[in-house]
Amino acid sequence: MKKSRTPMEKRAIYPGSFDPITNGHVDIILRGEKLFPHILIAVLENPKKKTLFSTAERIKIIREIFKDHSHIEVRAFRGLLVEFAKKHYARIVIRGLRAVSDFEYEFQMALMNKKINPTVETIFMMPSVKYTFLSSSLVKEVFALGGCVSDLVPLVVEKRLHEKFQKLK
Ligand code: COA
Repeated sequence: MKKSRTPMEKRAIYPGSFDPITNGHVDIILRGEKLFPHILIAVLENPKKKTLFSTAERIKIIREIFKDHSHIEVRAFRGLLVEFAKKHYARIVIRGLRAVSDFEYEFQMALMNKKINPTVETIFMMPSVKYTFLSSSLVKEVFALGGCVSDLVPLVVEKRLHEKFQKLK
């Protein structure tokens, strides 16, 4: 993908594990898109964390969802988020705050990121109320136990979940 000419202070990063991406994440990204001209979705590659979908699979899914959004870019990252932000000329980190319980962890992370790189700003967005209970683990659990997840994830994620669980059987 071509590097955008969007000024650094307007390039935003939305980081996460996205294992898998849910409608809650999509909601934040679509609303973030109205505020920032360029959003880089940064998919955490953490060799220590066991994920259902590989990094390549998670990236492929997200790219498919946003294939018609030319200002949304998807990349893997490892190591420090703020270093990745610097490397990709981004100054804004978008984070979703689903509930009060998210606050302490997010507050700590934002302050630590700021300490490591004071030029990076964290912006918090609240997902729609209907997604405040949502998490990737819950989606996987509900799906694995035969529950319906079609209201919780994009169609492509539901399809990939079917394929994945079929293979794991
Ligand atoms: N809608 C639905 N679910 C959401 C959501 C939303 N808007 N926002 C978060 N979630 C869910 C996620 O799916 C995830 O669910 P899971 O735990 O069941 O997988 C959970 O909430 C936690 O999400 P998040 O806090 O985004 O964690 P993460 O692992 O996805 O991402 C990073 C965390 C990548 C931002 C953070 O670990 C990081 O920056 N790592 C890099 C290392 C670094 O720089 N460390 C220093 C920072 S202090």
